[in-house]
Amino acid sequence: MKDEPMSRAENIRFEVKILDTGEKFSCSASDHLLRAMLALGRKGIPSGCHGGGCGVCKVKVTRGTFTSLVMSRAHVSEEEERDGIVLACRVMPTSDLEVEVVGKLKKAITRPKAFGLV
Ligand code: FES
Repeated sequence: MKDEPMSRAENIRFEVKILDTGEKFSCSASDHLLRAMLALGRKGIPSGCHGGGCGVCKVKVTRGTFTSLVMSRAHVSEEEERDGIVLACRVMPTSDLEVEVVGKLKKAITRPKAFGLV
């Protein structure tokens, strides 16, 4: 999807690229990144609380724009947030995004997925 001006239409979907693996997934403007990431079907992606309270779904947004809901400062400091680190369960895309996974999510996303060798 090419870069387009932000839209509030809920059915608009954006492409999210995980830089660590090169994988891409689609996420609607009304859904959070974690739910769309879980649709990849990868075993071991920590699902957590989906409410911004447990901190297992940290990602760093390196490109693109998004809206976010309240995140616990116990898991994302103001400095981290300024650097693009957010909780995937609290972020909805408003453009195509590129993200790096960090923390517990990084281990789940980057481990080998072929032939059950995990
Ligand atoms: S799943 Fe708990 S903070 Fe995102």
